[in-house]
Amino acid sequence: MSKQGLKIATIGGGSSYTPELIEGFIKRYNELPIRELWLVDIKEGEHKLQVVGELAKRMVQKAGVPMEIHLTLDRRKALEGADFVTTQLRVGLLDARIKDEKIPLKYGVIGQETNGPGGLFKGLRTIPVILEIAEEIQELCPDAWLINFTNPAGMVTEAVLRYSSHQKVVGLCNVPIGMRMGIAKILGVEASRIQIDFAGLNHMVYGLRVYKDGVDITDQVLEELTNPTNSVSMKNIVNLGWEPDFIKALKVLPCPYHRYYYQTSKMLEEELKAAESVGTRAEVVKQLEEDLFELYKDPHLNIKPPQLEKRGGAYYSDAACSLIHSMYNNIGDIQPVNTKNLGAIASIPYDSAVEVNCVITKDGPKPIAIGDLPVPVRGLVQQIKSFERVAAEAAVTGDYHTALLAMTINPLVPSDTIAKQIVDEMLEAHKDYLPQFFK
Ligand code: G6P
Repeated sequence: MSKQGLKIATIGGGSSYTPELIEGFIKRYNELPIRELWLVDIKEGEHKLQVVGELAKRMVQKAGVPMEIHLTLDRRKALEGADFVTTQLRVGLLDARIKDEKIPLKYGVIGQETNGPGGLFKGLRTIPVILEIAEEIQELCPDAWLINFTNPAGMVTEAVLRYSSHQKVVGLCNVPIGMRMGIAKILGVEASRIQIDFAGLNHMVYGLRVYKDGVDITDQVLEELTNPTNSVSMKNIVNLGWEPDFIKALKVLPCPYHRYYYQTSKMLEEELKAAESVGTRAEVVKQLEEDLFELYKDPHLNIKPPQLEKRGGAYYSDAACSLIHSMYNNIGDIQPVNTKNLGAIASIPYDSAVEVNCVITKDGPKPIAIGDLPVPVRGLVQQIKSFERVAAEAAVTGDYHTALLAMTINPLVPSDTIAKQIVDEMLEAHKDYLPQFFK
């Protein structure tokens, strides 16, 4: 790594989330001296890149840190000599997410950004693009770590591990940090006093044990979660509370995304109601983004506006910056990330991506072995892993039958016939972003 400080390239730099990242980098500037941050986007994102890039420059100037912000559409130039590459792109922008959420609803199936049919199609659109980026990294900055926030982050990490020559990849999500913050809030203590043994997959992670100051308080936390007002969620997921006796029986902490699996019919009802009234989550987010970009344009704004916290990605900059900081400085602390299993979870393939606590070193995350997942949750995690693997294969090959297979084995899809109907409609709807299926 460069002696004069780091070079970071952020692909999808025009994202409304960029101020989160900038805030995190500014806060940690002393330990993480970033010399150059390259925000990269594509032609369609140029306007957003300019607006958010100018805000980033004002934030850095206000903070008085000597971090250069470069804005570019030239990805190769941004990648040259980078130490870390972060990806936060959305192929097809929010309009594609709206389709992912709306089409399944017509068939009585959950329409969600990263789960069920929506997650599958987001993966089919995204994986080829990330694989292309990974190959460019291998060519232009082979020592750089790819820190991927792009959803579906688990499936994307799986695809890079399985199909790319660049293996230095870590998938990152804000769900674990959100759970930790949520539990700390319920208990009325500082989040730094709470530790959780995380294990599972991205958006399918469980908290196996919870500790306060190193003392196991799992039973107390489970008891707290039986109170509906205490339920931990995120801005993008309706919080319906949990059936108290179910939580007691489960004996581990579910993540907010588990609601789609354990509360499917209620969540579907909520989604249908929202689609008829305020709009699906992507429609709500589209409006939020427009409002955010209006704010970002204000030449007097030089901090991250609090309105950004209405997005589901809260704390994501903390997760990202702590990870990069610990890797760069070889801290050896424990953080939950998506990485190659290497036997950490016995019942998941050795070479598959898992989301699990890792020791974070300069040489990457070292997964901490948990033994195995408890029997009641093991099967669902394995099923989702099978789904992710088949989905990644479909994304790479563009094979119709593989895509159909992925759709049908997803636990949120009720039958082969419905799976086929959804696949056919979604392939057509997303045609422009799925060239591999229309050769
Ligand atoms: C959560 C997830 C992220 C996801 C976000 C969506 O935070 O962990 O992976 O991107 O929600 O939030 P949004 O505001 O776009 O609905």
